[in-house]
Amino acid sequence: MNMNKIGIIGTGFVGMAAAYSLFQQKLANQIVLVDKNHDRAHGEALDLMHGQPLVGRCEVSAGDFSSLTGAGIIVICAGVSQSSPDESRLHLLQRNIKVFEAIARELDHHAPEAMLLIASNPVDILTHAMQSLSQRPNNLVIGTGTLLDTSRFRTLLASHYDVSPQSIHAYILGEHGDSEVPVWSSASIAGLGIKGNTVNGREYDQKALAGIVTRVRKAAYEIIATKGYTNWAIGLVIAYIIRTVRNNQRSVLPVTVRLNGEYGISDICLSLPTIIGSDGVESIIAPRLDEEELAGIQHSASTLKASMDQLV
Ligand code: LAC
Repeated sequence: MNMNKIGIIGTGFVGMAAAYSLFQQKLANQIVLVDKNHDRAHGEALDLMHGQPLVGRCEVSAGDFSSLTGAGIIVICAGVSQSSPDESRLHLLQRNIKVFEAIARELDHHAPEAMLLIASNPVDILTHAMQSLSQRPNNLVIGTGTLLDTSRFRTLLASHYDVSPQSIHAYILGEHGDSEVPVWSSASIAGLGIKGNTVNGREYDQKALAGIVTRVRKAAYEIIATKGYTNWAIGLVIAYIIRTVRNNQRSVLPVTVRLNGEYGISDICLSLPTIIGSDGVESIIAPRLDEEELAGIQHSASTLKASMDQLV
């Protein structure tokens, strides 16, 4: 298994944003693009590869599933994505689960040891499905989860408090979707709790902060209503997770993992802070939650279970 060889299944907007991020950040020296539209994948590979002299050596090619043999990490962005502001991520499930069943068979045959990073939606249920369909251990099947939502949350909070987004410590957990949960009880700036406090001269404004949560929840819909899809930030999320795995950084990231009793929830995949290293999921951290946050996580779990139960 070669951690310098990264596969990307699905060369649409998200897949290519991920490929570009990996290429720019030199996180691979071989990127294999797989898509049912091979010509498009070939064109994307050529276009990206011509940037090598400006970034560094990275062989980008289009291939089929057999080309993924030996890859250390394979990103799955295949399937349909939200195409209108009134289409939720859960609405994509029935179509995308069929795609995932086919992909799981191919990957277990051609790349049984690779770590799989799921970005297709609904990412929590598709991560659960891939863990169930694939023979590889669950710690090697991770979903991008609410790392994107957390990044959006930190971006908007940083603007509100006029500090760097990298100085905001706050999570969105649960479903990567409409039931996602802001964890205010542990949100802080420089160790100073946001809830109830004046920070950097900004008094605690519950209405403004509630508005931020609404904007995070609606972010994808807002972007889709303007440009038709989202891709750049999720591409950076994928690269960030891959960097954490490659460098065995053991960073704590809100990504989609299978719960095993946390908060009384089992056999559901959703996002909790998780230590990510070279073996993928190293361990899950279940932060202390207040009553409202706990109810939110349990609502996320029941929302996801209800959708899973509808799978034919
Ligand atoms: C979004 C997609 C990746 O939230 O679900 O932009």
